[in-house]
Amino acid sequence: MSQAIGWNNFVDTTALPEYRRLRLLEELFDPFSLRQLDCVGIQPGWQCLEIGAGAGSIAERLAELAGPANVVATDLNLTFLDPIADLGVTVLHHDVTVDEAPGRFDLIHTRFVLDHLPEREAVIRKLASWLKPGGWLMLEIGTTLPALSSHPANQRSMTVLADVMAERVGTAPEWARTLPVPLEEAGLTDCAAEGMIMPARGGGPLAHWLKCTTKLVEEHAVATGMITRDELAEAYANYDQPSFVDYTWMTVAARGRRV
Ligand SMILES: C[S@@+](CC[C@H](N)C(=O)[O-])C[C@H]1O[C@@H](n2cnc3c(N)ncnc32)[C@H](O)[C@@H]1O
Repeated sequence: MSQAIGWNNFVDTTALPEYRRLRLLEELFDPFSLRQLDCVGIQPGWQCLEIGAGAGSIAERLAELAGPANVVATDLNLTFLDPIADLGVTVLHHDVTVDEAPGRFDLIHTRFVLDHLPEREAVIRKLASWLKPGGWLMLEIGTTLPALSSHPANQRSMTVLADVMAERVGTAPEWARTLPVPLEEAGLTDCAAEGMIMPARGGGPLAHWLKCTTKLVEEHAVATGMITRDELAEAYANYDQPSFVDYTWMTVAARGRRV
């Protein structure tokens, strides 16, 4: 088995295809994220931290709610974050696994980041310590559900996606399903979690995103014999077929508050 090298070594996070994949991710998942953020009632003046901000849409929304000067957005790759820096958001190159707190916060939000970090439980404890008393930590984590697939080729491709991510990135595809317990174990209170599953309709945006995401693991999966190009071609063809529908991706949002 090959060694995990982390998300930013496995994926070319500065490339245009990754920017397009992130923008599609935002289009698909922002509505759920914004409903979750509504639950905590962000007020003007709240100090907010967005970790692993990606292409920046959530940090931009936090800036609208709290005021741009009150928002810090971090990532290991700042290539796509100039527009939110121009709004007045503080954009930092910052590794959440090793770097110091970039402030004290009323809200810390992060989406599809901790799932890829093997040290996720330690990171949660660290983030909890960066909250002001009463401040909220909100995590959004993805999980693959290949067993729910409607087609054997897509069941295989989703299984392989999860397996390669686990092996090469260090992702824990099933960890989302333990939430909100890790938040409780970090000493947070008022913990809650909610899972959201959308249909991936052939030809639709979620199917396209799953296809783009599977392509990230294609070379490694084929080279190591985990799946054949023909099997992948069949899964991709289904993702383009309007009669196809699948429920194989769940996002879990979990939140907890510092006492
Ligand atoms: C799957 S993308 C999600 C982007 C964004 N959170 C979203 O949901 O739109 C993961 C992001 O986390 C960033 N990232 C990965 N490891 C990180 C770390 N240790 N510290 C901060 N950001 C990290 C990546 O550069 C990438 O932008």
